Amino acid sequence: MDWFIGILAIGVFAFFLGKFIKHKSLYPFMPFRYDFRKRRGSFLKAMDLMNAINANIIIETGTSREGLRGTKSNGAATIVFGKWAQENNAFVHSVDISEESCRNAQQEVDNQNLNKVVKIHHSDSLIFLDEFNDKVDLLYLDSYDYSSDVEVQKKSQEHHLLEFKAIEDKLHENSVVLIDDCDLPNGGKGKLVIAYMVKNGWRIVIDAYQVLLVREDFAFDKA
Ligand SMILES: C[S@@+](CC[C@H](N)C(=O)[O-])C[C@H]1O[C@@H](n2cnc3c(N)ncnc32)[C@H](O)[C@@H]1O
Repeated sequence: MDWFIGILAIGVFAFFLGKFIKHKSLYPFMPFRYDFRKRRGSFLKAMDLMNAINANIIIETGTSREGLRGTKSNGAATIVFGKWAQENNAFVHSVDISEESCRNAQQEVDNQNLNKVVKIHHSDSLIFLDEFNDKVDLLYLDSYDYSSDVEVQKKSQEHHLLEFKAIEDKLHENSVVLIDDCDLPNGGKGKLVIAYMVKNGWRIVIDAYQVLLVREDFAFDKA
């Protein structure tokens, strides 16, 4: 019986150790309980670069429809960048075509007291980006949902390319671009936009689930 309890205890310990190792928090920036999993490294690097360039204006396409419940699934970037904006005197514009996504994201923005630094815009991202008039320091592309359907994949990839083209003239020499959901079958959301950017003087800093890019002659950091 003793041996059985011993094995059980080791099993339970190994289970929780495994969970702890897989848990990728942004602590102390965000409370430890939030697990950012595959996005932690790229969020951290993006925020490093945002610190370096003293980012002021952040645009996100596709808002945090699950609030902070979505750290592992959707990413919760509205709140991550909102928190960064609050600490760094910056501002986040997050745009979404779905009323429901906007409502849910707004609720989390309220819960986190980020209203002064985050504005949720209810619009098609292409219209919003086209009409946006300021220079953009961080552009985060994460709208049109990717899926296993090849037709949807193509539409999502085209949409993210169009988003980039719609705001391209508002990016400056040290702007930072982060694209979500890239390490997926057939190239993910970033396939076309990354190819376009690389052809037009951008370089990849992180090539993972999220892809992080700066211009070839980015002035800060040997990124
Ligand atoms: C994956 S979620 C965004 C997740 C969010 N960035 C986060 O980090 O939690 C994708 C969102 O894109 C929105 N979306 C889809 N097509 C869009 C479009 N044409 N313009 C703006 N938003 C769009 C959807 O309504 C959905 O809420």
